[in-house]
Amino acid sequence: MLYYRTSMYLRCILLERVFPDGFLWGTAISSFQAEMGAGEPSDKTDWWAWVNDETNVSVERVSGDTPLDGPGFWELYDEDLRLAREDLKNNSIRLAVDWGRVFPESTHDVEVKVKKDLWNNVWKVELEEDDIKALDRVADHDAVERYREILKCALSYGLTPMLTLYHWPIPLWLHDPIACRDDMASTDRRGWISQSTIVEFAKLTAYLSHELGDLVDLYCTVNEPRIVSEHGYLTRRGEFPPGLNDPSLFLICLKHLCIAHGVAYEQVKRWDRSEASPLGPSTVGLVAVLQHYEPADPSNPDDAWMSQFIDYAFNEWNLNAVFHGDYDMNLDQVVEPWEQLPHQVKGCDYIGVNYYAKWRVKHRKTGVNPLLDYEFAPCRDDCSDYGWEIYPEGLRNVLSWAYRRYRRPIYVTENGVADVGDKLRTRYLRSHLDEVYKSISLDGVPVKGYYYWTLMDNFEWSDGYRISFGLYNVDRETKKRTPTEAVPVYREIAEKNSL
Ligand code: BGC
Repeated sequence: MLYYRTSMYLRCILLERVFPDGFLWGTAISSFQAEMGAGEPSDKTDWWAWVNDETNVSVERVSGDTPLDGPGFWELYDEDLRLAREDLKNNSIRLAVDWGRVFPESTHDVEVKVKKDLWNNVWKVELEEDDIKALDRVADHDAVERYREILKCALSYGLTPMLTLYHWPIPLWLHDPIACRDDMASTDRRGWISQSTIVEFAKLTAYLSHELGDLVDLYCTVNEPRIVSEHGYLTRRGEFPPGLNDPSLFLICLKHLCIAHGVAYEQVKRWDRSEASPLGPSTVGLVAVLQHYEPADPSNPDDAWMSQFIDYAFNEWNLNAVFHGDYDMNLDQVVEPWEQLPHQVKGCDYIGVNYYAKWRVKHRKTGVNPLLDYEFAPCRDDCSDYGWEIYPEGLRNVLSWAYRRYRRPIYVTENGVADVGDKLRTRYLRSHLDEVYKSISLDGVPVKGYYYWTLMDNFEWSDGYRISFGLYNVDRETKKRTPTEAVPVYREIAEKNSL
């Protein structure tokens, strides 16, 4: 009997590779990338201005594609959520709210109590019931109602929603990306460079958790602080708003997004009191993009140093800030007393890990600033359409690194491949899930869910529609969704809760 039980157990664990009970299987989408295409545009954000700017198109910062050709989730959400549940057999979906839809007009006039720390950083933003009422007078109620319908629809299909509060576009009243690109001094609408954006974000997150909290228990505060900061402020191509290349702005943006996480964490905990599921009223985490970095030439000490430095600046920095209050502003990897802001540690219930690829790092030696001295070697083999090197083992590495270091449960909040010809996706999905499985069963990492990026082809930011990450391809004219080869594979895995 004992033998029988043990062998069944081993079979389950080792052969069938069963995931833990309650594991969340999903896909991730974001508002700006997925919502437009079948009706109402969202045209009040910096991203809208950015991709429609003629200069940006002519110098190829952006593709020239329009989000208006997107999959149209804003109108077609029922169909997509049905696919997620009935076709993919998922039990969760990660989606985002568009700040510019909820507050197309400024919330500056809603006066709230803001406390700053000794270094003049925003530290606490305190809202009262009356402030929520005042925000309600400014909000676009149709947009809020639509988000409620979308969330109710997800729940009615049996999909636990994971809601991202910030997945990149900011209202134009807070960020004029064209003015910032041309001359930041000419505008006070400076997006995340300005601390007032943190205060307004606190208002947004308080209001959303008050309005949507009965339908949501699982929140992501900020999606990928590093990508917003790097692609906006440390970029040679200038592809994200405002397209600058200035290491000090990169660090200011990163710092403010980490503080914004903490401020939003406190708002959600304060304002979401109702339970939508057994998860409890609110589980709130940061979504970090964690990639695998290694030296392009391992025998070259400069490449080795640069690879470690990039790993520190890009993977570690934002988590050290959120979990330890370490704001190493000169990136010397030593946190001086004045760089320690323990009072900014507000909480982070889980880590959302977005993992895509391996990057081989080279040192360029301009000698100006290490942040301007790195370069990624071109992908050699097993490359996605983006030229990102497929490396499933890297996912296991970052999962166990993040867990060992920060000791929080983890959701893989994004993982996917740019693959227009549908040649890589199935293998990518299986091989990465295999690594997630190993990380749970062999490394003891509490991974609670996995979200494939993305449900259907969408607007891939500055690259528009040339890039296809979707499990379903979308006809841009008819909006018809067509499954890729990975769909039946993912369906079977999610349905059986095993690989
Ligand atoms: C972002 C997505 C994006 C994906 C692929 C992630 O960094 O969160 O919005 O589409 O990468 O580039």
